[in-house]
Amino acid sequence: MNKTISLWGQSLYRQFSLMLANQPKLSYYLHPLLRWNKPGVHPDYHSARIVDFRWETDQMLSVWLEPAASWSGFTAGQHLLVTMMHQGRYISRSFSISSSAALFTQQKQIRISCRIQPQGEFTQALAAGIAALPHLSISDAMGDFVLEPKANSALEQSIVMVAAGSGITPLWSMLSSLRCWTSPIVLFYCVKTAVQAAFLTELNQLAAKQPLFKVQLIETAMTGRLNLVQRLQTHTNFSLQKALYYFCGPEAMSRQFIDDLIQQGVSATAIHTELFGLARGGSEGPVKQALMIQQGKVISVDVAAGVPLLQAAEQQGLSPRFGCRIGVCYQCVCQKKSGQVLNLRTGQISGDGPEQIQLCISAAHSDLQIEL
Ligand code: FES
Repeated sequence: MNKTISLWGQSLYRQFSLMLANQPKLSYYLHPLLRWNKPGVHPDYHSARIVDFRWETDQMLSVWLEPAASWSGFTAGQHLLVTMMHQGRYISRSFSISSSAALFTQQKQIRISCRIQPQGEFTQALAAGIAALPHLSISDAMGDFVLEPKANSALEQSIVMVAAGSGITPLWSMLSSLRCWTSPIVLFYCVKTAVQAAFLTELNQLAAKQPLFKVQLIETAMTGRLNLVQRLQTHTNFSLQKALYYFCGPEAMSRQFIDDLIQQGVSATAIHTELFGLARGGSEGPVKQALMIQQGKVISVDVAAGVPLLQAAEQQGLSPRFGCRIGVCYQCVCQKKSGQVLNLRTGQISGDGPEQIQLCISAAHSDLQIEL
């Protein structure tokens, strides 16, 4: 009963906030005031003091953070959104936590490890500014890419992990958090060459002291891509159908492994993958036409299925307002006059009439008219 009242209260608050400010939380409406008082603070986020940083490889930067007491902790394998101010606006990115659960319990610290992308605005800004930054803003930890608690601990189910590049971060967090080893775990760690393999020393040390753990480095520049099923079938006494699988890396890689395993009779429920950012739902279908109106001028933009309208507008030379580009900051909200959009975060399809939409997480579901 109490739960029903609380859900009803939350829904009423949300509706009231949307009615008043077209924001799901009133705190977003008050955000300019909050910023005036405490610059760099976002209403949805917790402040996290930067304690230290270190380059793991020439492309991967680890940052140790001490979240404020309001942050409620994490389960190894989860990720969070990290936000910072850059050139007068908020930018955000998802990162997995790469540290062990013990680091947080004992020292109230976490570590994120970020691959610095040559074209990545967030990671470039982070790498350039890390020495001077006092804190970052972080969201609650989220995601269900965590080790499954075993229903029957007597059953020694093998665990197969595959990491590609920076996909090692949640897997290393899981491995370094494990207190009680009851299952054999094999990790295939795919990198172009060994110099790009972050945490390799720690992984080898773990393998040396834990007989149930094996790490196999796959240097794709030398051996080509990993054929997971073929590789596992060479292991004697290994049953593909009895193992649990955890993949973190490019979607195409995970997709290939999932298809191959399912063909071999592995249940889809035994396979876990980590996906960051927006799910590219509905990425197939005809191109739609969006008429974008900016300062009285109408520009026709062709929008491919599944492509965020913000991106499509920018490709056409338009420059709508934006912040995080992942549906968090509400800086890109604009008025849809007609047509339907697909929300890339929730998969929901909007109504046909006028309403406000977030350009960065909306894709065209029909032809549209939008006032920028
Ligand atoms: S840019 Fe932040 S919500 Fe769209």
